[in-house]
Amino acid sequence: MRAVTWQDRRKVSVDNVADPILEQPTDAIVKITSTNICGSDLHLYEVLGAFMDPGDILGHEPMGIVEEVGSGVTNLKAGDRVVIPFQIACGHCYMCDQTLYTQCETTQVREQGSGAALFGYSKLYGQVPGGQAEYLRVPHADLTHVKVPEGPPDDRFVYLSDVLPTAWQAVAYAGVPAGGTLVVLGLGPIGDMATRIAQHLPDIGRVIGVDLVPERLDRVRSRGVEVVDLGDHGDDLADVLREMTGGRGPDSVVDAVGMEAHGSPGASMIQRMAAHLPDAVTQPLLKTAGVDRLAAVHSAIDIVRRGGTISLSGVYGGMADPMPMMTLFDKQIQLRMGQANVKKWVDDILPLLGDDDPLGVDTFATHRIPLEEAPHAYEIFQKKADGAVKIVLKP
Ligand SMILES: NC(=O)c1ccc[n+]([C@@H]2O[C@H](COP(=O)([O-])OP(=O)(O)OC[C@H]3O[C@@H](n4cnc5c(N)ncnc54)[C@H](O)[C@@H]3O)[C@@H](O)[C@H]2O)c1
Ligand SMILES: [Zn+2]
Ligand SMILES: [Zn+2]
Repeated sequence: MRAVTWQDRRKVSVDNVADPILEQPTDAIVKITSTNICGSDLHLYEVLGAFMDPGDILGHEPMGIVEEVGSGVTNLKAGDRVVIPFQIACGHCYMCDQTLYTQCETTQVREQGSGAALFGYSKLYGQVPGGQAEYLRVPHADLTHVKVPEGPPDDRFVYLSDVLPTAWQAVAYAGVPAGGTLVVLGLGPIGDMATRIAQHLPDIGRVIGVDLVPERLDRVRSRGVEVVDLGDHGDDLADVLREMTGGRGPDSVVDAVGMEAHGSPGASMIQRMAAHLPDAVTQPLLKTAGVDRLAAVHSAIDIVRRGGTISLSGVYGGMADPMPMMTLFDKQIQLRMGQANVKKWVDDILPLLGDDDPLGVDTFATHRIPLEEAPHAYEIFQKKADGAVKIVLKP
């Protein structure tokens, strides 16, 4: 089959690889019909390359049609239309029982000290072949799928793999009080969708989005969300947001930026250096040093009102990142974070994926590109060129 593989820093290719086969009775094979590129893939493309091997298949936002199931799979059959969550979970361990699927004790990658295995997400998460391919092997398929109805186009459902539950969890973890204000930092797919969900929820009073890419600001503004351009307010963002919120600051802030934030020159240099060292040097460095660009999380700490909540959905990876503990403590800030527990939120989200399309998923993708053109797709997404916000690859 054809698959998108990681080759080197900023280099992916589309190659012939072996078709996946059933390896365990609990596996299913899915023929992929749509498969997205995610901001998280950009971390592999750039900073986390030391944890990738050339040839690793990328991708964790696929959907398609079940081709074949193992003898132990009880609730799926060939022909079912499914979205595959980005994490692999067993559905019957202590963590899964608490809907903490990203912490599944059956699939945890213990040798790396990581949580549940993820599709296409480096040795840190089990080096499981990903979903930017014609076919995907889905382990623990009984739990690791979302069945979706026939009829509407793939765009309607494909974001259930990651964007929708991640944005939903980001807003839920932000704990906005009734009538309160939420600021969303970063208006990539995750932040954009978080503003849509927050706007839709009746209890949230006001939503403000922040980014520096003009098309991303426009997209969010066009749906009636207030936006602040970081390009105009690089130095006084927190002051501006406090002014907009009665001098106090917003009740809650979502960080939908992550470790490659704009405006962290020191860490940005470390990330670039790390990319040129041998993996044996870089892996422990990435795991022990402060390598994240922390501009966004630091501004979230500054922006949020005293006693407010910060919800981190952007991915961070360093182990010794300097954090302003005094400010966190003094302002009595609550901090919640983590990979989204996809299946936990599906029942909340599915009713919003009807023909009235309140979240605008049908038109969410800016690009639909053949899988064969993945190298070009990665390049424009990373450079934020050609208006790329969300790219769906078509095998
Ligand atoms: N928690 C999860 O389960 C989960 C799932 C998916 C993605 N993510 C993470 O969420 C983050 C966002 O993902 P995405 O797909 O939207 O990626 P993205 O890279 O397209 O979006 C990030 C946006 O942040 C903006 N930005 C950069 N620096 C900023 C700053 N200092 N202040 C405000 N905005 C800034 C960028 O211009 C960009 O538009 C990534 O870190 C990704 O890894 C987490
Ligand atoms: Zn993703
Ligand atoms: Zn489990």
